[in-house]
Amino acid sequence: MITYEEAKKLLAEYGQEHILRYYGELSAEEQSSLLAQIEKIDFSILGALDSEHNAALQRGKIEPIEAVTMADIAKNSGEYRELGLEAIKAGKVAAVLLAGGQGTRLGFDKPKGMYNVGVTRELYIFECLINNMMKVVRETGEWIHLCVMTSEKNNEDTVGFFREKDFFGYNSDYVHFFVQDMAPSVDFSGRIYMESRSRISSSPNGNGGWFSSLVRSGLLAELKANGVEWLNVFGVDNVLAKIADPLFIGAIIKSGAQSGSKVVAKSAPEERVGVMCLEDGKPSIVEYYEMTDEMLTQRTADGGLAYKYGVILNYLFSIAKLEDINKTKMPIHTVDKKIPYMDENGGFISPDEPNGHKFEALILDMINMHDSCIPYEVERDREFAPIKNPDGVDSVVSARKLLEENGVTL
Ligand code: UTP
Repeated sequence: MITYEEAKKLLAEYGQEHILRYYGELSAEEQSSLLAQIEKIDFSILGALDSEHNAALQRGKIEPIEAVTMADIAKNSGEYRELGLEAIKAGKVAAVLLAGGQGTRLGFDKPKGMYNVGVTRELYIFECLINNMMKVVRETGEWIHLCVMTSEKNNEDTVGFFREKDFFGYNSDYVHFFVQDMAPSVDFSGRIYMESRSRISSSPNGNGGWFSSLVRSGLLAELKANGVEWLNVFGVDNVLAKIADPLFIGAIIKSGAQSGSKVVAKSAPEERVGVMCLEDGKPSIVEYYEMTDEMLTQRTADGGLAYKYGVILNYLFSIAKLEDINKTKMPIHTVDKKIPYMDENGGFISPDEPNGHKFEALILDMINMHDSCIPYEVERDREFAPIKNPDGVDSVVSARKLLEENGVTL
């Protein structure tokens, strides 16, 4: 582990020496815990506060992108399915569940996947996702490796829950957990907050950190040794997510592209969803708040929205390309946030207003790091039931309705 002297030198480079202010007063255990935290922090992330970094986040020329539409898929379904099933049966596809988020909007104090969406019986979000995977396992007769990304904050609860529920019938030899990295939280001048004399204030580093965390955990090497070539990455929110969908996998393999993204036609021009596009000729995702009114309402010759395809956090990536991407740094976004902290006098403050930034890498930025990514259109009411809020849009209430419409007993 890093020594006190090394930590001091490192912190001095970034103007964060205050982190060690109480070092001499800590117990031996607290001292080594603090050094371990310092060692794990990627301080270069603080560069995201520089104007130079922000300039690099500027958008290029945005244009509409062609998708593989539901009509195309219907026409070629036989071939796509065959190719996809072949890849799954050969063990070339693994799934990655991103479950490291804090789910603040849902306001549930446990990991989001532990939320019970059942009404007359228990049915947890994790259980819905496993049930969805089981359909492909039954169809192919093959277990598919599932890597679950947690964060330091929810790993213990998540792993404990899967064990308690006996992995909801999934083969536990095929379920692997890995913990995503943390990023420090800073005040508006870039000074890292402390939660206590020995704890640095930090939060999960965003869902874009998933691949580097997978590599660091050693799991990627294991998957590759088992012959895995493709990763189907999905979020914990969508209880209707079709995972390791043979048609999707087959369509992307057939296209020769480096990646694919499941998309749904937007419900309305102003729907708050990121859409696929071309940016300077390369695939990209533009967030709803980045779109001008003109882009929101622009139509194609056939009358459809020009920027029509919303992403649903279900991607297929080739490992070879991801390894290539991992050699370069991801863009880092800063988010204003209320950060509880220890003040100058050692008192604990819980602010009512945002008092600093947290740093996040976003998986959607990975799309623009690819030369090719196929938007693959799926039926919204069959594959998209996100749970972000307790009620209203994208909520427990709307997802329950959609689950029932899809034949799931609640
Ligand atoms: P969201 O953007 O919905 O964030 O994550 P969140 O933290 O879960 O929820 P809110 O915004 O606080 O309400 C989209 C997906 O990315 C994962 C989430 O678990 C979810 O599957 N995620 C997000 C991570 O795995 N790690 C992160 O650091 C952030």
